[in-house]
Amino acid sequence: MPKPANTEKTAWAELGPHNTLAVPAKCRQLTPVGSLDELITAVKNAKAEGLPFLVLGEGSNTVFVGDYNGHVILNRLQGLEVVKENEATVHVRVAAGENWHDFVKRCVEKAWHGLENLALIPGTVGAAPIQNIGAYGVEVKDAIISLEALDLNTLQVDRFTNKDCHFAYRESRFKQDWSEVKVVTSVTFELKKTASSLVLNYPALQDRAERLTQGELTLKDVFSAVVSLRTEKLPDPADIPNAGSFFKNPIIDQETFSALKSVHPEIVAFKQDTVIKLAAAWLIDNAGWKTKRRDGVCVHQTQALVITNPNKQNGCAIESFAKEIQADIKDRYGIHLEIEPRLIRV
Ligand code: FAD
Ligand code: EPU
Repeated sequence: MPKPANTEKTAWAELGPHNTLAVPAKCRQLTPVGSLDELITAVKNAKAEGLPFLVLGEGSNTVFVGDYNGHVILNRLQGLEVVKENEATVHVRVAAGENWHDFVKRCVEKAWHGLENLALIPGTVGAAPIQNIGAYGVEVKDAIISLEALDLNTLQVDRFTNKDCHFAYRESRFKQDWSEVKVVTSVTFELKKTASSLVLNYPALQDRAERLTQGELTLKDVFSAVVSLRTEKLPDPADIPNAGSFFKNPIIDQETFSALKSVHPEIVAFKQDTVIKLAAAWLIDNAGWKTKRRDGVCVHQTQALVITNPNKQNGCAIESFAKEIQADIKDRYGIHLEIEPRLIRV
């Protein structure tokens, strides 16, 4: 005889501690995996039960819109090895379950340049290529040589070059057509040993790094400046649950931008080759959303692109607030805001 639904639910695992929005969703089974064999076994177990499954890192770009009627597999694959090194560069292969910021710190300690602008981004190394994480003028694709991923149909691990991944702004093939098919198991980075490779084209970063140091800028100065800027603007999910930017910055053509600028001369935007990237934070802020709240879900006071969930509300409340903001921005500026984190519903 089937158990009553509510009794059955109490046996389900809590996902609250495994997503940085602290959404109190549940899943049927939660399985941390520390090796490739364990990952394959977890996938086989879910398949054998005929249930869907989802591989999660640290849940910092994931919104559980409801309970997940399947297995959640936590990627905890660990390890780092230098696979190639010469005077100018080093190639490092890192297991997908390593914490991203810890890895960046290790690179800075070793004086390996390339990832310092991406300091303090929450999450795992394996999730970094999924949406091609970026900050302060650098995207992770700039340092990725290749990655390895488990194919969920064949259960074979295949290698993909940077080109194979189709990286773009907050995008890759793994976020789109391969999202249900491949699990990243390791990433290989090329890092530089020379200070000439510091990237300081983000004005706020250059400014902050120069304020923190007396002499010539070093890798450590840039790392500290990024940490300082981010700590100032972005809420720490441990204190105020959030998933970072909730929307992508919209990319529009020059003609659309000129029309918008004529109505909103103070609009904030950045030219990128032939297109324009609008600051979505400005659109939301200028529309008066900062500090607004619905059902306990808020627009953050120092970064309007961040939706916070201080009262640990469910994913529906977050999604419906996001939709309200999207509709208002569309009405005011004719611009569609695309949601950045992945919404999970089963
Ligand atoms: P998860 O949320 O666990 O997973 C994200 C998605 O990737 C899910 O769909 C999951 O199924 C899939 N996935 C996870 N691991 C794998 C894998 N090994 N193989 C295949 N699919 C996988 N992002 C930026 O780009 N720039 C920022 O500056 C930035 N700042 C942030 C600041 C804060 C405070 C927060 C909370 C988030 C921020 N983010 C930022 C978003 C987030 O940190 C990144 O997207 C990060 O890479 C997510 O890592 P994760 O392990 O938590 O991913
Ligand atoms: N702005 C406002 N109001 C605000 C915040 C910002 O008007 O409340 C305006 C300011 O003029 C500012 C501009 O927007 O100059 C851009 O703001 P910011 O430099 O903070 O960057 P962002 O475009 O809002 C992006 C990324 C962040 C990344 C930072 C730093 C996206 C969607 N977001 O934010 O990534 O850390 O740049 O490079 O591209 C994330 O993806 O989760 C994330 C946090």
